[in-house]
Amino acid sequence: MRITVKKGSLADVKTEAFVLAFCEGEKTPAGPAADIDRKCGGLLNDIMKSGGFEAKPSQVSMIYGGFLPAKRIALVGLGKKSELTPEKIRRAFAKVMQELRGLKVRKAAVSLDLSLLSGQKEKVVSAAVEGAVLGLYRYTPYKTVGREELQDMQEMTIVSGQKDYALIRDEVQKTKIIADAVCFARDLVSAPANEMTPSILAEQARAVAKRKNVTCHVLEKGQMKALGMNALLGVAAGSDQPPKLIVLEYTGAKKNEAPIALVGKGLTFDSGGISIKPAEKMDEMKTDMAGGAAVLAVIRAAADLKLPVNLVGLVPATENLPGGNALKPGDILKSHSGRTIEVLNTDAEGRLILADALSYACRFKPSAIIDIATLTGACVVALGEEVAGMLGTDDRMKKALREAADATGELVWELPLWDHYRDLIKSDIADYKNSAGRMGGAITGAAFLSKFVGEYPWAHLDIAGPAWTTKDRGYIPRGASGVPVRLLTEFLQNRVKGKK
Ligand code: BES
Ligand code: MN
Ligand code: ZN
Repeated sequence: MRITVKKGSLADVKTEAFVLAFCEGEKTPAGPAADIDRKCGGLLNDIMKSGGFEAKPSQVSMIYGGFLPAKRIALVGLGKKSELTPEKIRRAFAKVMQELRGLKVRKAAVSLDLSLLSGQKEKVVSAAVEGAVLGLYRYTPYKTVGREELQDMQEMTIVSGQKDYALIRDEVQKTKIIADAVCFARDLVSAPANEMTPSILAEQARAVAKRKNVTCHVLEKGQMKALGMNALLGVAAGSDQPPKLIVLEYTGAKKNEAPIALVGKGLTFDSGGISIKPAEKMDEMKTDMAGGAAVLAVIRAAADLKLPVNLVGLVPATENLPGGNALKPGDILKSHSGRTIEVLNTDAEGRLILADALSYACRFKPSAIIDIATLTGACVVALGEEVAGMLGTDDRMKKALREAADATGELVWELPLWDHYRDLIKSDIADYKNSAGRMGGAITGAAFLSKFVGEYPWAHLDIAGPAWTTKDRGYIPRGASGVPVRLLTEFLQNRVKGKK
């Protein structure tokens, strides 16, 4: 969908639908709504007075008025003004755009009251655009029957006065970059595992590297062997697909500035291996590369936004299958770091491939390491489907991540990583074991990872819950969410602003 910004009066725009947002308790149309009301003979006024539209959060009413360049007016509620948040704006715009698409509308014009969020004009714009773009996302490349029903919205025009035109235009441009990156991550995660192998994921990374200041190289099996990455190779051994270690670098700051390392779990399919998972819902394990997808998408967004920051993205990519060469429970692997790992459960494979990628990240002498992984079912049990777990060693970075999470609505909650948890992953005969059983599973998973990040400031985001959603949630239609692409982009933007 194109998003355009136009100077002038909403009532004069030639389009298929006008979108007007209201807060609860508004009794008469004001501003652009008043113009429209005049042109349609007081219809809006009548509806608002009669209580036919209360402007409850995400409430939508369609009016067919006549006398206007647009056939329809879509009223959308934002709830009480005193309780308004960017999240409510995102949800409202997702809802109204979804309804318009359902009516086969292709073009809509919107007027935004930039004073809605006391002084944060940009936030009003970004929330509306995010809600619209992300809410309209759907994954359709494999639908061949009834494609003509799948008409997409083509254009959303934001109409503004002279004064705010430049602000809106710039904010739209930035927000569109980020929302498109989220949709890119959603596409990668939605793709079925037969069409999203480690090799194809690596191709996608190479495509990201077509941008200025982005380079990609991919470590192949032979190089992994030479580097002693036997934990990654061990997981890959059960599959016929060759593993890849994707290295994607973005240089937006001075060459000698230490990069932030983003490390994403790239299991393009996780069957569990010999410790095989139950058949029910195993299909969802095509999403086990959501962390890796987020890394590719964040680097793409940073490059498109030209953020003055250096990034290195590392995505160990493989399948976890029970082939004849597969890892067996009890096997011991010598990792890239030199530490040995006893594999008690082949389904705890994410931490194995991340162990090698994290210790490889140390080569880049990063200013920080953030890993993103659909690591544990235990994290979903602890925090539910909508919230990511956060653990790490650096309080300042965790605080900054938390703030970025709150600002973007991609929620995280911290779990503790006290020293005693690290005792639980000690092995009797190797240095560490890859599973400490069910209790505290999200934490022992992170405790394991912490052994491979050296002394670098490190944070871990366990996105097993929010990476994939089984029910529609406003601007996150069911399926791949693209979490935490907006969170990390916000974190990077704040970091370069020197705020954090
Ligand atoms: N990919 C899974 C975790 C997962 C579960 C992601 C549900 C998304 C939804 C991971 O590889 C896994 O299987 N973890 C095991 C670890 C255990 C064996 C220590 C788990 O959570 O059961
Ligand atoms: Mn697993
Ligand atoms: Zn997994």
